[in-house]
Amino acid sequence: MSLLLLLLLLLHGLIPLTQAVPPRPPVLCDSLGCNVSNAYGRWTDPTPCRASTIVYPRTEEEIRQAVATATRKNLKVKVVTGYGHSIPKLTCPASPPENSMLISTAAYSSSIEVDPHNLRVTADSGVGIRDLIDRVEEAGLSLVASTYWEGASLGGVISTGSHGSSWWGEGGAVHEQVVGLSLVIPAGPSEGYARIIRIDGGDPLFDAVRVSLGVVGVICKVTLSLELGFKRSITNSFNDDAHLEDKFMDIAQIYEFADIIWYPSQYQAVYRYDNRVPLDSLGDGINDFIGFQSMPVPVYMAARATEEELESERDVRGKCVMAASQVAYKELVANGLKNNVIFTGYPVVGRQGRMQTSGSCLHLSMCPWDPRIKGLRIYEASAVFPASKFRDFIQDVKMLRDLKPRNFCGLDIYTGFLIRFIKASQAYLGPSEDSVAADFTFYQADKPLMPRLNQDVWEEVEQMAFFKYRAKPHWAKNRNLAFLGVEDKYPNFSKFIAVKQQLDPQGMFSSEWSDEILFGKGASKGDGCAMAGQCICSEDRHCSPGDQYFCKPGLVYKEARVCRYSPSSMSSP
Ligand SMILES: Cc1cc2nc3c(=O)[nH]c(=O)nc-3n(C[C@H](O)[C@H](O)[C@H](O)COP(=O)(O)OP(=O)(O)OC[C@H]3O[C@@H](n4cnc5c(N)ncnc54)[C@H](O)[C@@H]3O)c2cc1C
Ligand SMILES: *[C@@H]1O[C@H](CO)[C@@H](O)[C@H](O)[C@H]1NC(C)=O
Ligand SMILES: *[C@@H]1O[C@H](CO)[C@@H](O)[C@H](O)[C@H]1NC(C)=O
Repeated sequence: MSLLLLLLLLLHGLIPLTQAVPPRPPVLCDSLGCNVSNAYGRWTDPTPCRASTIVYPRTEEEIRQAVATATRKNLKVKVVTGYGHSIPKLTCPASPPENSMLISTAAYSSSIEVDPHNLRVTADSGVGIRDLIDRVEEAGLSLVASTYWEGASLGGVISTGSHGSSWWGEGGAVHEQVVGLSLVIPAGPSEGYARIIRIDGGDPLFDAVRVSLGVVGVICKVTLSLELGFKRSITNSFNDDAHLEDKFMDIAQIYEFADIIWYPSQYQAVYRYDNRVPLDSLGDGINDFIGFQSMPVPVYMAARATEEELESERDVRGKCVMAASQVAYKELVANGLKNNVIFTGYPVVGRQGRMQTSGSCLHLSMCPWDPRIKGLRIYEASAVFPASKFRDFIQDVKMLRDLKPRNFCGLDIYTGFLIRFIKASQAYLGPSEDSVAADFTFYQADKPLMPRLNQDVWEEVEQMAFFKYRAKPHWAKNRNLAFLGVEDKYPNFSKFIAVKQQLDPQGMFSSEWSDEILFGKGASKGDGCAMAGQCICSEDRHCSPGDQYFCKPGLVYKEARVCRYSPSSMSSP
């Protein structure tokens, strides 16, 4: 059945939703040990990861005891969550696995204390974003910033600098709402091998630990600031993309929660006009974002099967038909905004807690990327640009697009470029200036070395973003190459490392895997390493010469080196 037909049947309610199946936990253990993965069942680094034990503490004191045990036994430790929604291999402890312990926050999620007088909430770090927001809203308050995705833990979101979109107030990143937290760190025998420290804003350690990738210790209680409850009013405006580069700044300044979705192959830009309105405004809408919406599993599988077929036939036109129908469908259903049960018209007005984040696939069926089904397989790049450089990036991408607009259809099947706004942060591993985050998602083959249609285009855009414009890679997304040289992009990076050494002098919470991300060193360049984004090619063997994919310069950014399908080329020695 074609994807379009399935979508139409779905739209008319002719296919019932399937049953809810909870996501697979990121860590699976048996008597021999644990397999450590993420919610996708695969990191961009394909080698498997093992750990010997896992513990599920329920209180701060139990976390302290777990860290004490690890210190005493000289084990490597990684903090994992019940969600595991990050793409890089951050939660893999060092080899050999016998000497490692996982501390999961999955069961550390019972306490959410709202303090309405001081407009604060203090929660256990394992609490999910949805539970946190629901509790805050019940008290008549709102959390201003959150990720668009609700299926993540509070600890995971702040540890990776995750964000929504805003240049107003404290900005769109969740860690900007943090006013204090407690942390368990290793200690000497006289202190019982581990201790709990409390770090509030103003403490010299605060800017290091808010965004710390799990490498400084275990974050326990997190206190966030809140505002009085409010609603939001959202209108998606579908436009041509002619003046995108001149407009994005104004849009971010005029609308508190603005974002932009740019579909280059369709010459379209969707501006999200999104502002807060008073709580007594009319409207009880929700944002059930299309990408995280629950759909019947056959829809996910049909979408994947269709794309696999187009890939194997090298059918770029077919990809464009798919992209155009996706964009049209999204316009029809307002990207998932619903005035009540369905979308009936703009603006859609609803409570902040219902508009800021979503994830109905978690509760009503399965999510499209669930590794147990043959559904969505993607790479997700997320590049955080200094705002002043984003205009030039758009113009470069437009130049590349204009050479062959169809080559961009593969992006627009997903979300094109999702453009969001993040304010300058004092956090050492946060953006040091007002920034624009651009996320783009593209097809991942089943096997790491399998070539993909137009992969040279995404590689050129990636290299343009990270190396020409020095965008910072989102710590929880991206392929490994994006992290090359990342240390040099943070003016206070060395301060972060100094704090890490002070809190965890033995490097108990660090591993070769998290070091690979944090220090952006890049692995050794093996055959085919560029095919899955493990390296930038410099020789043909880093691509896939057998499939006629050779290492070539970029078309617009000439310094880029990409794997391009070039059937007439001879392999250079
Ligand atoms: C569908 C989807 C949509 C997304 N949307 C957005 C978005 O809109 N904006 C955005 O910015 N990001 C987004 N992300 C990325 C997501 O926010 C991050 O991957 C986030 O880190 C996931 O949280 P988690 O609880 O799954 O953490 P994990 O992935 O399990 O862990 C992330 C890191 O945090 C560390 N960590 C976790 N808890 C603790 C703790 N208590 N103490 C110390 N270290 C800890 C871990 O060791 C690891 O290094 C999205 C991801 C997905 C899958
Ligand atoms: C871990 O992975 C190995 C290799 O794929 C597999 O044989 C084993 O069954 C897995 N263990 C668990 C508990 O899932
Ligand atoms: C971090 O870097 C910024 C930009 O260079 C600087 O202004 C700021 O003072 C630094 N923070 C600290 C604590 O040194």
